[in-house]
Amino acid sequence: KQRVLSGVQPTGNLHLGNYLGAIRNWVEIQSQYENYFCVVDLHAITAPHTPATLAQDTYTIAALYLACGIDLQHSTIFIQSHVTAHAELTWLLNCITPLNWLEDMIQFKEKAVRQGENVNVGLLDYPVLMAADILLYDADKVPVGEDQKQHLELTRDIAARVNHQFGKEKSPVLKLPEPLIRKEGARVMSLTDGTKKMSKSDPSELSRINLLDPPDAIVKKIKKCKTDPMRGLVFDDPERPECHNLLTLYQLLSGKTKEAVAAECQEMGWGQFKPLLTETTIEALKPIQDQYKEIMGDRTHLEAVLREGREKAATIANATLNRVKTAFGYSLPL
Ligand code: AMP
Ligand code: TRP
Repeated sequence: KQRVLSGVQPTGNLHLGNYLGAIRNWVEIQSQYENYFCVVDLHAITAPHTPATLAQDTYTIAALYLACGIDLQHSTIFIQSHVTAHAELTWLLNCITPLNWLEDMIQFKEKAVRQGENVNVGLLDYPVLMAADILLYDADKVPVGEDQKQHLELTRDIAARVNHQFGKEKSPVLKLPEPLIRKEGARVMSLTDGTKKMSKSDPSELSRINLLDPPDAIVKKIKKCKTDPMRGLVFDDPERPECHNLLTLYQLLSGKTKEAVAAECQEMGWGQFKPLLTETTIEALKPIQDQYKEIMGDRTHLEAVLREGREKAATIANATLNRVKTAFGYSLPL
């Protein structure tokens, strides 16, 4: 079986963008692959973070993976910082990655502007750590949202550079991974601005629906979300980004086809559509929230899952790390 690796940062809550752009796809494809899903807590400290909640936030994301339907029969769940090879490979890769490759990353530039004086070396290095996450597992496929495409290209460039500098022609050191980006849901937009992506870092809570939002919060957020003054709701009108985004959310959360939703909503006004979307969202999130409560209620089980995940992941990651170290010319500890 081909291997899949992906991850999400434990910063705050997961929102519908994380779910529809990433995790839901992991769940759908997992039976075809051997999967590794990590909670990337080393990435989380590239932005100012709160030590008091980091561990808890990390467990929350792991529990949400399970609640969303990640199945341990096909998939391994682990925490990035528990497998030390991630940090070690990052150092090796740092030393072959040209600085200007990192300075050119769109997300770095965006975050650097936002974080202002808080731009640390880790933020610049973020994509190299992500490359290490992926390359350690010889991943064939990396299911992510559209915004991670450039980071995947960088990962391939780094792997190719290692192979070029240290590999033998017939036996490359690292495997080049491919992104797996679904068209629908790859870019879920903000509820308050249909031209911006839904993001954990948007200061307004009204801009996103979190997977753990209670029904009354969902009611309020959809009631206040941005719309337009037109009647009749359509997909794909560039003049109506909010309309396209909300219809897409309805389509994905209801499980209906795009054609069915287009037909259902073509005559509707917002007053009729908003309650429909609200109800669909609440219904779609309820099973996830119920599962989540159950999983968080049995901490011993969750810890056992993560311990086992760490062991499996570390075995593979350490083998790759040794392979890379040997290729770089290091002696391995005896
Ligand atoms: P992050 O929250 O940055 O750790 O992202 C975790 C995963 O969610 C990545 O695969 C992202 O590409 C995906 N993602 C984040 N925001 C969105 C969004 N607004 N639409 C679609 N996918 C997203
Ligand atoms: N950078 C990714 C994001 O913000 C998270 C991430 C870290 C990741 N390591 C990864 C995603 C490895 C896929 C594979 O969305």
